[in-house]
Amino acid sequence: MNKILKGVLLAGGTGSRLNPLTQITNKHLLPVYDKPMVHYALETLRAVGIVDVLLVSGRGHAGHFLDLLGSGKEFGLRLSYEVQEEAGGIAQALGLAKDFSRGQNIAVILGDNIFMRSDELRDGIAGFADAQRGARLFLKRVPDASRFGVAEIQRENIVSIEEKPKNPKSDLAVTGFYAYDASVFDIIKTLQPSGRGELEITDVNNHYIQNGIMTHRIIEGEWTDAGTFDSLLRASCLVAEQKTS
Ligand code: G1P
Repeated sequence: MNKILKGVLLAGGTGSRLNPLTQITNKHLLPVYDKPMVHYALETLRAVGIVDVLLVSGRGHAGHFLDLLGSGKEFGLRLSYEVQEEAGGIAQALGLAKDFSRGQNIAVILGDNIFMRSDELRDGIAGFADAQRGARLFLKRVPDASRFGVAEIQRENIVSIEEKPKNPKSDLAVTGFYAYDASVFDIIKTLQPSGRGELEITDVNNHYIQNGIMTHRIIEGEWTDAGTFDSLLRASCLVAEQKTS
């Protein structure tokens, strides 16, 4: 059977690192070159072959996403919406996708992640909809790994992920594109809030690693998040460069 993965786009959070830009506006509605940030994640999901997408955003901004994106028709997507009542972290937001997923495997993208090559992601999740169990991460070599979740690799397997380590064990950042089997929702239920008071996606990923069912791909295309002033600028520059090249 060739099932099609469902997609979850996470666009909540307070965007505090971008204050005062995010005082009124949601981070994912800020401009990246010539489009609202959230457009790029939607385009990436469509480009990897996903059609059904749940967008999770925070209270106070959900209506803005609905006004901007509507049914998703313009993107060739079928969009549904879910509201995260308070900013409780990426894993908590993902937990709201349980009913939407209907027991199927899912792909998840963080709304502030910009991938310049979707073909690597598409190839990387090929067949995952039919996978029995497990999860898959997409890693990227970066010069500033301590800003991200960082993967430690031994004999081609990820043995642990550390969230924003002071002394990263590698230069492999965990990007905000993930694929999970349906057990992800049971894992999320077992999580405790981290030091920053959030349910961390890194804790979810370490759970899969400990069970020996985490796989990964290393991507070569340019990638950036856009959650800080510098990375937001870099995101705009990457898009501008691609347009003019
Ligand atoms: C989140 C994750 C981190 C990941 C990053 C990718 O961090 O917690 O593991 O590397 O997204 O953009 P955040 O930027 O939300 O703090």
